[in-house]
Amino acid sequence: MSTLKAVRGTRDLLPPETVLWNRVEATARAVFARYNFGEIRTPVFEDTALFARGVGEETDIVSKEMYTWEDRARAQSEKPQSLTLRPENTAGVVRAYIEHGLGESGQLQKLYYIGPQFRRERPQKGRYRQFAQIGAEVIGPPSSGSESPLRDAEILEMLATLLNELGITGWTLHLNSVGSAADRARYDVALRAALVPVVGQMCADCQRRAVTNPLRVLDCKVPADQPIIETLPVIADSLDEASQTHFAAVTAALDAAGVPYTLNPRLVRGLDYYTRTTFEFTHDGLGAQNALLGGGRYDGLSEALGGPRAPGIGFAIGEDRLVLTLLAQESAPPQVDAYIAPLGETLNTAALVLARELRHKGLWIELGDGSFRLKKSFEAAEKTARRIVILGEDELQSGILTVKTFSTGLQTKVPRAELGVFLSEPASK
Ligand code: HAM
Repeated sequence: MSTLKAVRGTRDLLPPETVLWNRVEATARAVFARYNFGEIRTPVFEDTALFARGVGEETDIVSKEMYTWEDRARAQSEKPQSLTLRPENTAGVVRAYIEHGLGESGQLQKLYYIGPQFRRERPQKGRYRQFAQIGAEVIGPPSSGSESPLRDAEILEMLATLLNELGITGWTLHLNSVGSAADRARYDVALRAALVPVVGQMCADCQRRAVTNPLRVLDCKVPADQPIIETLPVIADSLDEASQTHFAAVTAALDAAGVPYTLNPRLVRGLDYYTRTTFEFTHDGLGAQNALLGGGRYDGLSEALGGPRAPGIGFAIGEDRLVLTLLAQESAPPQVDAYIAPLGETLNTAALVLARELRHKGLWIELGDGSFRLKKSFEAAEKTARRIVILGEDELQSGILTVKTFSTGLQTKVPRAELGVFLSEPASK
């Protein structure tokens, strides 16, 4: 019988990598709290229409990548409902905003989420069919200031802070404005006109999109189409004065806050809901899938979903890619403070008591086994922990323990009462 494996594009996350996942999530939660964001958890599957209307029928996500199925009908007369595993979380958050009347308080809603998303893409390094996003959305009625460029700058400044606190170095923020709905309509006309003489030489997808949604031609990845795409007009030339002023205020605030960015007039992003500010943070260490996170403003999304006017802006970080970047950056030192090695099985209980004592002090302790020979204990300890504590009959009687620090090779005698303090010092000392 063949053995069963995790489905293509999905994977198990195992220790010690999960330590990093937890650290990333804890840091994100702590940073979001400082900016007064609260957590929202929306369902993993939604009505398919939410993504068709929210993300856009012609996007790659909706046209090719969704996991969609028909639910069982409750009654024979009923039409079965089409359901979809969420490919992203912004549409779900805006649906919840509308459904719970969150705008009625008149307050800006600042919401974050951490959770799995699903896209049937071709798997490769950094691209999976189940992946995790850490995202946040700021949304509210216009009277709450939700349209202000200050919100865009604050979100970007928060992201720079989060990446820096996580120790991610070498990221680049690419910034653009895709304009208001009216600007987009003007750009649509310019793009259609520019496509007429060249579209015949482009791929079948582009030929279709040139008619249904010309902006999506810019997402095309077919190499032969790229030189043609390079000649197409850029959206920056279609922005009206209000959009230009909005964008100038965003960049001025970033300059004041010292957040570096690169203007990228070809950044349109692969989802239809964007208006005005759009951005991506990339990292060279990631290879082909170099977008660490993406986001932007979506001033018309709530109305497109049948809700009230509620401008918003947000982002989603690819958590898998964030962890990959951290793994490539650091040779992570063992997290465990000490490995306790009892010398003989008769000392197992005393070792358990010592481990309990140290764990109560907040230390991370691995407990060995007295049936191991000392050499085996050392080998196991070196793989797991920064230090080894030897607990023999002499140590138990005298209350003076022998501790070896692996990074320095130093062996130290430490009184039991001082052990907690000693073990919490960095191991490089
Ligand atoms: P997105 O650019 O489609 O935007 O995805 C955001 C991030 O999720 C990407 O930059 C990438 O790091 C990660 N990601 C996407 N697809 C995959 C995949 N197949 N495997 C691994 N990671 C992936 C959104 O999803 C928008 N909802 C962001 C947003 C929030 N805009 C406004 N608010």
